[in-house]
Amino acid sequence: MSKKTFYITTPIYYPSGNPHLGHSYCTVATDVMARYKRLMGYDVMFLTGTDEHGQKIELNAAKENMPPKEYVDELVSKFRKLWDIMDISNDRYIRTTDDYHVKAVQKIFKKLYDKGEIYKGNYEGWYCTPCESFWTETQLVDGKCPDCGRKVKLTKEEAYFFKLSKYSDKLLKLYEEHPEFLEPESRRNEMISFIKSGLTDLCVSRTSFSWGIPVGFDNKHIVYVWLDALTNYITAIGYGSGDDSDFKKYWPADVHFVGKEIVRFHAIIWPAILMALDLPLPRKIYGHGWLLFGDGTKMSKSKGNVVDPKTLCDRYGVDAIKYFLMREIPFGSDSIFTNEALINRINSDLANDLGNLVSRTTAMVEKYFSGNLPGKLESDDIDNELILLTTSLRKKYENHMEKFQFSCALAEVWKVIARANKYIDETMPWALSHDPEKTSRLACVLYNLCEVLRIVAILITPFMPNTSPLIAEQIGASGNMLTWCKADKWGLLSQNAKIKKGAVLFPRIDAQKELEELNKCVK
Ligand code: ME8
Repeated sequence: MSKKTFYITTPIYYPSGNPHLGHSYCTVATDVMARYKRLMGYDVMFLTGTDEHGQKIELNAAKENMPPKEYVDELVSKFRKLWDIMDISNDRYIRTTDDYHVKAVQKIFKKLYDKGEIYKGNYEGWYCTPCESFWTETQLVDGKCPDCGRKVKLTKEEAYFFKLSKYSDKLLKLYEEHPEFLEPESRRNEMISFIKSGLTDLCVSRTSFSWGIPVGFDNKHIVYVWLDALTNYITAIGYGSGDDSDFKKYWPADVHFVGKEIVRFHAIIWPAILMALDLPLPRKIYGHGWLLFGDGTKMSKSKGNVVDPKTLCDRYGVDAIKYFLMREIPFGSDSIFTNEALINRINSDLANDLGNLVSRTTAMVEKYFSGNLPGKLESDDIDNELILLTTSLRKKYENHMEKFQFSCALAEVWKVIARANKYIDETMPWALSHDPEKTSRLACVLYNLCEVLRIVAILITPFMPNTSPLIAEQIGASGNMLTWCKADKWGLLSQNAKIKKGAVLFPRIDAQKELEELNKCVK
């Protein structure tokens, strides 16, 4: 039987500056979800990429005195390098300047035009260059762009329009029949009122600049960057190419992860385009929140207050950064990023809770049993609570993961870690070790702790793919014992497992000293 598929995407980022922690945030969340589904046995397609056309890129390139393609090539290599450093497991990387994408977008545009979904007209409106958006007089706020608050420019041009307005009822019906299409719920309500306030047809071509995909049958015009960008989700898997087997296999996408500021494009324009193309809609759009910087503003390239993710990964390790991003910020909400919070999390959750559990457990097996637990184990009632809590962890974890509540899933894992640390204090293996009659009991306590670590190692794999095998190795767990279906089973670690204390997983950080160092790295 063929495996169930799971198709997940990040937004395709603008290569208009260096990638920053905000980009890493969404990409890490997507990576976690992709790895989680692979762990469960799904055939996963994880797509990310870069959105390389548009006036903003053209202007930035001009400022640098570079041809746009050269300009984006340089930045795209930085994005790709960062995803390598961060162990991002994307299956595909789309660049909207890729030839196959350009051709497919032209086909899509032509198809929509031939079907009467796109028509030619005139456009007069207020244009916001950074947002690449047209606004009507009434949409402006104090005469400025309602999205970003910057200056807008009166522009008139002959243009192609997509008949977005005709999809209002269908979109409202979509939200009524499939409330799960857009989450979290608060974003859904915003979209419904936006649709109800009246949709106008969408201008989908430009003539005022040239860095874009030519319409094809009317090359004076280039395709509106959002039409070009949104279609990446289908062109990357072969729609509009000679081979659409992956499209047939993976579409519709299971979920598009996007930041809340681009929900409108994904939750209104994208489904309308797909409806116009007679294609199935993605199952879900999830609008995640923002990482805010110290002063409460969104971290962004233009504000220059970006902590370089590479700097953080170099200093603390990729897994620690991924853990922090996923644990600290409830997906869907905004959260302020501070260096203090990062260091505190690393010290308390990783060095103290997890790191200590691993090192105490393995050190004791080495000390009392030279790394090999004896076969005879003597259990006690006190074990039951720990065993029950640990074997019931996978279910709770899964419930949270299915709702993209990464922080809650990790919190459940850490409850078990805390319980196991407490179990050490309660059972006092050091005291048992003094009594030769208690050898089997001591062995059982340590075996139980290793089993907790085995299950923890499985469940942290999506978040900390480098740490998990290090833990598994130290407790002598391998292969079949580390699969998803063994994460709710107890007693799998083999009798002759060789347990060996390894290097410290997460060294404790001297917070005061480190904060001073880190502050110097803020650009
Ligand atoms: O919008 N906090 O690209 P973009 C959390 N090309 N997430 C953040 C963030 C922050 N401070 N800053 C950025 C575009 N992000 C379009 C998308 S998709 C068809 C086209 C993440 O480079 C977040 O996911 O501005 C946001 O939606 C995305 O980066 C925007 O990246």
